Amino acid sequence: MKTIIEPFRIKSVEPIRLTSRPERERKLAEVGYNLFGLPSDDVLIDLLTDSGTGAMSSHQWAAVMRGDESYAGSPSFTRFEAAVKNLMPFKHVIPTHQGRAAEAILFSIFGGAGKCIPSNTHFDTTRGNIEASGAQGDDLVIAEGKDPQSLHPFKGNMDLAKLEAYLQEHGDAVPVVMLTITNNAGGGQPVSLENIRGVAALAHRFGKPFVIDGCRFAENAWFIKEREEGQQERTIPEIVRDCFAVADGMTMSAKKDAFGNIGGWLALNDDDLAEQARGHLIRTEGFPTYGGLAGRDLDALAQGLSEIVEEDYLRYRIRTNEYIVERLDAMGIPVVKPAGGHAVFIDARAWLSHIPPLEYPGQALAVALYEIAGIRSCEIGTAMFGRQPDGSEKPAAMDLVRLAFPRRTYTQSHADYIVEAFEEVAAAKDSLRGYKIVKEPKLMRHFTCRFAKL
Ligand code: F0G
Repeated sequence: MKTIIEPFRIKSVEPIRLTSRPERERKLAEVGYNLFGLPSDDVLIDLLTDSGTGAMSSHQWAAVMRGDESYAGSPSFTRFEAAVKNLMPFKHVIPTHQGRAAEAILFSIFGGAGKCIPSNTHFDTTRGNIEASGAQGDDLVIAEGKDPQSLHPFKGNMDLAKLEAYLQEHGDAVPVVMLTITNNAGGGQPVSLENIRGVAALAHRFGKPFVIDGCRFAENAWFIKEREEGQQERTIPEIVRDCFAVADGMTMSAKKDAFGNIGGWLALNDDDLAEQARGHLIRTEGFPTYGGLAGRDLDALAQGLSEIVEEDYLRYRIRTNEYIVERLDAMGIPVVKPAGGHAVFIDARAWLSHIPPLEYPGQALAVALYEIAGIRSCEIGTAMFGRQPDGSEKPAAMDLVRLAFPRRTYTQSHADYIVEAFEEVAAAKDSLRGYKIVKEPKLMRHFTCRFAKL
């Protein structure tokens, strides 16, 4: 059979509400054209993030009932720890309430003034935690990773020559080498197993620990199986184990590839580092056998980890994005290619070329998608990154719009609806106008700022 179907049937449904265009226009004006301000009840298809927004399976809900809420030594933790170690063979697994809490603990150990931490591309919270510690984060992704049209199969790869030069230049100032799989901030693009091994070898040659941000590890493993020479006959768990076997630790948001609505962990091999991390955990998150989580969450994640590596799921998951990218591409809409693992990215600067970057073409597109079709997406561009520390304004490297897909939540007809919405936006595209920001906080303005239509 050629059709790749959703490999599940639906037992419980969550109604979504069709709103009228005048209603949406009114809502947008009320929230100052900031989509983060919209109540989710007023959103038809919510593609703001793939984080914590997925559907749990019937087995996960059953696991929730099994959850044991003991403060210390809960069997839920034992099951969670075993499920993590089955895929990621680290000695110490430290549960946290989400990914950024694991990062905060990691950089309380490795960060500090004068330190330099390289990655392919640090996610914003990773960078935020690095910078909050006084350290600096640097992105060393390969050049193809910054070209939306390049068809390189592993656009999330680290540039190994740049990393080597970086390690030579910064020497003792580098406490750890990081790598994000898949590379979320770079379009959800994968990192090859060869590159993961290359980064590990370089880090170790310079005597540095190597830590993977593994949020979307299963999607990354699927791309390795599909695209990397010699990996086709291997199972996803085998590939996942190989990816983490060369690392000294990992941070994880279990809201992504563990099918959780909440959760995360920090894993480490080194006993002393783990002891320091647990000390921090007890102060800020909780006792080491629950961290920031309830026993029921730990059980749901243990079950989720066995489901996320299923090939039928991953094939359907990746195909949905490819399907949308192929159709938008055929309509002449500039999309980041190849399709990423968790999201479709549209190059709004190229598509809405009549709107200059400082008038936020990404925001104009995101607003139009909601206004026309009730779809919520996210601007990743000048509205998000344009404000400089001195309060001035500069165009971001790119003006993208991200459509991030919650896991197992929407169906093929939703995908077709999204494609149709783009046809409508394309028809109206030349009449779309830019925005100005009329009110903004100093930091991370995109969450709360208000815009006005120009
Ligand atoms: N690392 C990566 C690569 C991420 O994508 C995220 C979250 C985090 C770390 C932080 O994890 O949210 O559990 O604290 N990404 C979400 C997103 C928020 O929409 O891309 P968290």
